[in-house]
Amino acid sequence: MIKGVVLAGGKGTRLWPVTKVAGKHFLPVGDKPIIYYPILTLKKAGVKDILIVCGPEHTEQYVRLLGSGEEFGVNLYYTIQVEPVGIAHGLGLARSFSDGQKIALILGDNIFGDEFSKAFASFDKRDQGAAVVLKRVPDPKRFGVAKFKGHKVERIIEKPKRPPSSWAVTGLYLYDNRVFDVIKSLKPSARGEYEITDVNNRYINEGTMDFIKTKKFWIDAGTFESLHQANLLVRKNRNLR
Ligand code: TTP
Repeated sequence: MIKGVVLAGGKGTRLWPVTKVAGKHFLPVGDKPIIYYPILTLKKAGVKDILIVCGPEHTEQYVRLLGSGEEFGVNLYYTIQVEPVGIAHGLGLARSFSDGQKIALILGDNIFGDEFSKAFASFDKRDQGAAVVLKRVPDPKRFGVAKFKGHKVERIIEKPKRPPSSWAVTGLYLYDNRVFDVIKSLKPSARGEYEITDVNNRYINEGTMDFIKTKKFWIDAGTFESLHQANLLVRKNRNLR
């Protein structure tokens, strides 16, 4: 059984001054707070137990908003990331919650038009390894980008000046439980964060990374422009409303 983790810490500096006080994940997209979308993505993919990783300043609001998860038909759990020192660090806090199971990690500001129940079911059958969701984007420089060798991904390059493809790594990842040992062995990057791209490149080097290409829309609602886009897209997609 795959367990879910939603990362909802971070500083949200690209949405300042709004996020000086209000947490990014509570801002509205369509008629819901942003955080509802990643929770629903996991739920639709068949995940029942979900850990919300919160920053200390908003923990109480998350519990007030989301409660036990009953409204979503899932079980919600909460933990605190005291300092937002990277996505891999946030995932590392889920070790005891994971209870030896596989993990689906989704970033709290990511909204997907697709649903992933088949992809999750086939990952669940694998002995080991990882998978990331890729999406073709017009502006790959902003993201981790896949470098292909034939049909295989050779490497993921974080925010490349000259992108080797237009396939961005989205904020939805699947890992076997060894991911927690990988995270433990990480060193902070030049920007002082524990990078999820370093985790992904370990699995690529091991030859156990799979890629799931999504054709439907994907947006991370972390900038004013993308927040606006997300609102327009959700309006057009009835199933997300
Ligand atoms: P980012 O958008 O990379 O970071 P941020 O939310 O702090 O925003 P900004 O860059 O504008 O300052 O984070 C992606 C998602 O991951 C977002 O939903 C917050 C979450 N996150 C954590 O929970 N902990 C972390 O340490 C980091 C870096 C991000």
